[in-house]
Amino acid sequence: MNNLKDKKMGSMIPEFLLISCVLFFFLNNVYAGVTSTFIRSEWPSVDIPLDNEVFVKPNGHNAPEQVHITQGDYDGKAMIIIWVTPDEPGSNQVKYGTSENKYDFTAEGTVKTYTFYNYTSGYIHVCHVENLEYDTKYYYEIGEGDSARQFWFQTPPKIDPNASYKFGIIGDLGQTFNSLSTLEHYIQSGAQTVLHVGDLSYADRYKYDDMGVRWDSYGRFVEKISAYQPWIWTTGNHEIEYMPYMNEVVPFKQYLYRYPTPYTASKSSNPLWYAIRRASAHIIVLSSYSPFVKYTPQWEWLKEEFTKVDRKQTPWLIVIMHSPIYNSNSAHYMEGESMRVAFESWFVQYKVDVVFAGHVHAYERSYRISNIHYNITGGVSYPVPDKSAPVYITVGDGGNQEGLASRFNDPQPDYSAFREASYGHSTLEIMNKTHAFYHWNRNDDGKKVATDSFVLHNQYWNKSLRRRKLKKNYLHNIVPTLELNQL
Ligand SMILES: [Fe+2]
Repeated sequence: MNNLKDKKMGSMIPEFLLISCVLFFFLNNVYAGVTSTFIRSEWPSVDIPLDNEVFVKPNGHNAPEQVHITQGDYDGKAMIIIWVTPDEPGSNQVKYGTSENKYDFTAEGTVKTYTFYNYTSGYIHVCHVENLEYDTKYYYEIGEGDSARQFWFQTPPKIDPNASYKFGIIGDLGQTFNSLSTLEHYIQSGAQTVLHVGDLSYADRYKYDDMGVRWDSYGRFVEKISAYQPWIWTTGNHEIEYMPYMNEVVPFKQYLYRYPTPYTASKSSNPLWYAIRRASAHIIVLSSYSPFVKYTPQWEWLKEEFTKVDRKQTPWLIVIMHSPIYNSNSAHYMEGESMRVAFESWFVQYKVDVVFAGHVHAYERSYRISNIHYNITGGVSYPVPDKSAPVYITVGDGGNQEGLASRFNDPQPDYSAFREASYGHSTLEIMNKTHAFYHWNRNDDGKKVATDSFVLHNQYWNKSLRRRKLKKNYLHNIVPTLELNQL
């Protein structure tokens, strides 16, 4: 009898081993991310010719062009309006009000020009419009006489933990037909403010006077969006424009003339890094190409800014930068490592919800991971799951002339949840203080197709919900193509 039992047990051992192996394989692989094999259509990565209608100049003598707006204060009650007049300075005034064609208020701006090699810019006007009401549509007019032009924008709701708001995220845009496709998809998204993660015009791909010309064309290219809703812009490497061969050695010169920021409102000493609060979000903008190691102004500022974040007022803590600190693409691999070393422990300490970056011309999303226990002698050097860490999202796929970064490192690291080399943009729709819908749209798809989507649970307000919803979140993470209505 015992012999029979032993024999039976013996025959079960291979079965047990097989089942164990299958289970082991399954358990290990459910953590693996997805490298999409989508085959995409793609226009050539060349800039749209200057005589194309997307760059058309407005009619009229000295008509304002390249109109773009950004938040003008810390909390969203001010706007900075920027435009260029080509022929002469003209008026610095913005007329504005809450009724169409009826402007009860005026604000006076300033005007400047600059030279870059032999190029001289148009007259760049910058006007701060302040003391706006929250949640209000404002109409505004710039320019004079027959050349005057009218636009509008909507102010955000007042700072409130449950204020809903929809941000769009665009990176590495440029001015190609792929860039145009991104803009057209973005317009359909219903997002209210653009978070631009750097590399705007790619004018630095040109030489001499053509660089300034391509900054101008880019300004006209994006105006159909940038005149109507604020863009929160970040510097990328293509904004540096350190060009000794032209005797142009002041970094960010053209960018800084054209893209002012409300940096003083967050006590920053430099327009390249700053913070704003908008609706229920606290947004921190970092400069990947300015000093950030310990004791530098950016480091000191960020240390202070994190202490000002009040998750009871602004539950959503979002960081935007250009160079991603988690990136498994061979393009720009490890370039964000020095910033990771400088800032990652704060991201975890302050429970940042999400970090958006660009630079890599592809899309990638991480799980919540950190590598803060690494030190140079400890031997621990691999990112590990960390529920206090942000989700890292690279969305440098706006469509510039450098083309897609299609070579991902193989195998896909455990921390990488989803990656694909396609053009597109993201949206983050904050619903209330506890959750937001995140959505990545591939340009090849219709506007409602979520190539990657998930519910982002707030890091501060979801502590008690976390355990209960763990299983559901886990599913969202491993099924990136899940439609929102299925969540
Ligand atoms: Fe870049």
